[in-house]
Amino acid sequence: MTESAPARIFPDRTEACRILAAEVAELVRSINNAGRPAVLGLATGRTPLPFYAELIRLHQAGELSFANVISFNLDEYLGLSHGHPESYRTFMERELFSHVDMRPENINIPNGNPDDISARCAAYEKAIRDAGGIDFQLLGIGRTGHIGFNEPGSPRDSRTRQVELDPITREDAAPSFGGLEHVPTHAISMGCGTILEARKIALLAWGDGKASIVKEALTGPITDQVSASFLQEHPDATFYLDAEAGSEL
Ligand code: F6R
Repeated sequence: MTESAPARIFPDRTEACRILAAEVAELVRSINNAGRPAVLGLATGRTPLPFYAELIRLHQAGELSFANVISFNLDEYLGLSHGHPESYRTFMERELFSHVDMRPENINIPNGNPDDISARCAAYEKAIRDAGGIDFQLLGIGRTGHIGFNEPGSPRDSRTRQVELDPITREDAAPSFGGLEHVPTHAISMGCGTILEARKIALLAWGDGKASIVKEALTGPITDQVSASFLQEHPDATFYLDAEAGSEL
């Protein structure tokens, strides 16, 4: 394991999310107390669900306000209709935003409309810069080692752009789409370079299905074949794992 990307292994995901959510709440409060909005980079998928549940609990307990939070999501599928149940915008509304006091104008999610993609990607990058950069970035990891949808071959300095989904990633998404043929082939994703500019990063992984890719990302070579391996070079990136995901370390 490297010094620069430590792993914290918890008995289970609930405990990992309780600890991380308390840390993120503290970060948001301290940035807000310093007089500026906290900028959070957010992820979708199965992994962050217990983390969002804990953020909602903290909000309902009066311990965390999102009134002064700006969010940027990592990615969005390309070409889904507005309000599609599997779109990441729908996911974020359902799992977090509708339960907390985020201001709609502070929510940023890549737009999966296939027109004018490069202009919209450049505007997304500019919006992140204009917000002052990302204070805290949440990540999951795919079986291909992707962070965001930066599939094998994504350069270290890649920015927000259209990407093609790896067949393994599409296969993993097939059950929720009701079959592989309904899974989009492309997405818009923040790049590795965009993600690595976040000041603080937490990558979450649960279950033994993630154990071998977690090991590769943390202890294998730093390579564009496993984009999560770039986190080894980040000064403040931590893997939050349950016992199963950490079992090969
Ligand atoms: C989601 C994302 C992806 C997922 C990864 C893991 O916004 O960018 O990198 O984090 O595919 O997905 P789950 O959590 O469903 O295993």
